[in-house]
Amino acid sequence: MVTGGSGFIGTHTCLELINAGVNVSIIDNFSNSVGESLERIERLSGKKVSFYEVDIRNKNSLQEVFKASDFSAVIHFAGLKAVGESVSYPVRYYQNNVLGTLNLLDVMSQYNVRKLVFSSSATVYGDPETLPIKEFFPRSATNPYGQSKLMVEHILEDLAKADPEWKIACLRYFNPVGAHSSGMIGEDPQDIPNNLMPYISQVAVGKREKLSIFGNDYPTVDGTGVRDYIHVTDLAKGHLAALNYLYSEQAESFSPFNLGRGQGISVLQLVNAFEKASGRKIPYEVVNRRPGDIAACYADAQRAKQLLGWKAHLGVEDMCKDAWRWQEMNPTGYK
Ligand code: NAD
Ligand code: UFG
Repeated sequence: MVTGGSGFIGTHTCLELINAGVNVSIIDNFSNSVGESLERIERLSGKKVSFYEVDIRNKNSLQEVFKASDFSAVIHFAGLKAVGESVSYPVRYYQNNVLGTLNLLDVMSQYNVRKLVFSSSATVYGDPETLPIKEFFPRSATNPYGQSKLMVEHILEDLAKADPEWKIACLRYFNPVGAHSSGMIGEDPQDIPNNLMPYISQVAVGKREKLSIFGNDYPTVDGTGVRDYIHVTDLAKGHLAALNYLYSEQAESFSPFNLGRGQGISVLQLVNAFEKASGRKIPYEVVNRRPGDIAACYADAQRAKQLLGWKAHLGVEDMCKDAWRWQEMNPTGYK
């Protein structure tokens, strides 16, 4: 069972799962995605997916889905993810991300499903004192979105302590970007993009005039913010690896994993790489820092390599090429 399976990371993961022979069912309420993404998964894989239009905040509907099926594990993507919006509408974020997850955990218990892969985020590390970031680093949150991820992590840890039958992989993603190499599935922001890569893509395709770079006075290589960008296909494969791990003998009840490449890339470096990959100029202006942003963030992903046998293979060039192919083939997204 994949919750949030019609969203950005969900679609890419479902495709990897189906291609690996996993029998997948999807739950989504389409609050940040559209049904066309599921049709694309079917076209790419040549397989039908079973889909339930369900809101995870609605426990009765979740129960009906579990009752009618025989799930062995859940990958849980469903949630809201816009940091700025979470500051304006905190209750909405806690309801979707925390209450929704509590409902899911309850229904999973009820139907004896105790394997879970959870979408967490590097945001739980706050502003790290040193880099690269390791899984045992202190955690903190600076906004309701981050707080909701941290709360769920604590809930999952408590659950794993209370009942070691649970096998939970808590995947902390760094910055997922790019798109499937077919150009048929990708990131489809419903509004003005909050994140750098989709914003750059929309400037390249002529949908936005120019990029605003949020500050060039950070203590980084060129003054702009540094992040650990990871291709969404590598990330999707990380979920398959995590799922396999949960079925293995050595699986711990609660296991956190950083999913990143371990390489810091600045905003200007990404802009340059995108210009090269697309052959388009990306006009930009430097504006004030975005409140709450940190200077630099990148992962130590050794734990995932050792325990999951997973590492990212695709580089920045692939990320930009694939993001551009998706944008060029689908200038208005799935619509
Ligand atoms: P997304 O918005 O594209 O996908 C999330 C999906 O969940 C959407 O299809 C949405 O319609 C669905 N959804 C939301 N609330 C729901 C609810 N109450 N019931 C049922 N479905 C619901 O986002 P994404 O980028 O694919 O992210 C997936 C997960 O990964 C999220 O939990 C997000 O917080 C986490 N994450 C994302 C990033 C990132 O940069 N994309 C980074 C770190 C963590
Ligand atoms: N940036 C710009 N202009 C933009 C957008 C972003 O200069 O229009 C800069 C930011 O200042 C930052 C970098 O580009 O230096 C990356 O910004 P993103 O918004 O793409 O990504 P963040 O690292 O800020 O946040 C993302 C997700 C969070 C998640 C975090 C860690 O949005 O939800 O990665 O996984 F928590």
